Amino acid sequence: MKKDILFQPFTLKSLHLKNRIVMAPMTRSFSPNGIPTEEVATYYSKRAAAQVGLILSEGTVINRPSSSNDPNIPHFYGEKSLEGWQKVIQGVHQAGGQMGPQIWHMGVMYNHHSGWVPPVPFEGPSGLNKPDFTNGVSMTEKDIYDTIDAFGQAAADAKRLGFDCVELHGAHGYLIDQFFWEGTNLRTDEFGGKTVVERSKFAIEVIKEVRRRVGEDFTIILRLSQWKPQDYTFKLTRTPQEMEAWLTPLAEAGVDIFHCSQRRFWDSEFDGSDLNFAGWAKKLTGKATITVGSIGLSGEFLAAFKGESSQPQSIEQLLERMDRGEFDLAAVGRSLLADPNWVEKIRDERTAELKGFTKEALAALL
Ligand SMILES: Cc1cc2nc3c(=O)[nH]c(=O)nc-3n(C[C@H](O)[C@H](O)[C@H](O)COP(=O)(O)O)c2cc1C
Repeated sequence: MKKDILFQPFTLKSLHLKNRIVMAPMTRSFSPNGIPTEEVATYYSKRAAAQVGLILSEGTVINRPSSSNDPNIPHFYGEKSLEGWQKVIQGVHQAGGQMGPQIWHMGVMYNHHSGWVPPVPFEGPSGLNKPDFTNGVSMTEKDIYDTIDAFGQAAADAKRLGFDCVELHGAHGYLIDQFFWEGTNLRTDEFGGKTVVERSKFAIEVIKEVRRRVGEDFTIILRLSQWKPQDYTFKLTRTPQEMEAWLTPLAEAGVDIFHCSQRRFWDSEFDGSDLNFAGWAKKLTGKATITVGSIGLSGEFLAAFKGESSQPQSIEQLLERMDRGEFDLAAVGRSLLADPNWVEKIRDERTAELKGFTKEALAALL
């Protein structure tokens, strides 16, 4: 049966996964003062016990005074937060799973709806969240190098605490992506430039530092997207040649797996081929890739934030593409947020029991 392809083991450096299903990183804002609670640990260990191959944590922020715009988003620094994360990974391992934190700096953000603001202004390459919206300061060279160091420290802590890999959040219009994007990076120093390749210096330095801190054998995942919440249709690269020029130096800097974020995994990346982003990233770099975006669901996730519910949908096309070797792993977001047992239901073909997704699932850690 085709679905067996999803249940093949996968090994790469420190990862030894029982299947190809990854829980996508999903911010939940249930960690008061940045400290993951017992409930957070239980939320993840339930998914590990129910056969998720690899869990990627919600975005968890690095040690910079304005790396977050929300006091309930977990930190990946400070004794209490790291103790909380230690309990998370212990629980996941006891339940037989593997996990990596998604380490994150949000860059220049909108202020949180609660009115909470960080102690210092948001920081980014040019103080911009999008081309016409300034809500922070331009980072000095010292800020940049301190931030690179903070990413390295977080990755080293992930390894020390016993996590199985680390993911860098380079997608969705946050700090690393704000450097990639010409709309938010107007710098004229070595961290700016006319091409996405020139504007990749920040990401490359972060990856190199993370690699230096975790060693050769620890798996580094980099999450990227062409689209941004600021502009759904945007593409950083418009041809395979441009994409190759963007991704190759990132791979050479130390990325093991590219996590290629799309809103719908079946959308082709460039005209003339039905390969998706993960398909092209694998073909162009030879690295392993993760695909993501509306797997097993009828509607995409940004519409879900506006209240649109999604029904379960066949995963046939995912299996066909995986069978062709387009990508190695498949990340599932909302289905696993709403239902810890999604993987087992897929494995056992209990399709009538699949739940779909409604916005109400966001209100609690199920
Ligand atoms: C509630 C929620 C929070 C999210 N938070 C993050 C995040 O912290 N980091 C990230 O890279 N993506 C985040 N995403 C995007 C998901 O990782 C995933 O790419 C997206 O939901 C598409 O997968 P799905 O269609 O299976 O839900 C979030 C999505 C949701 C629904």
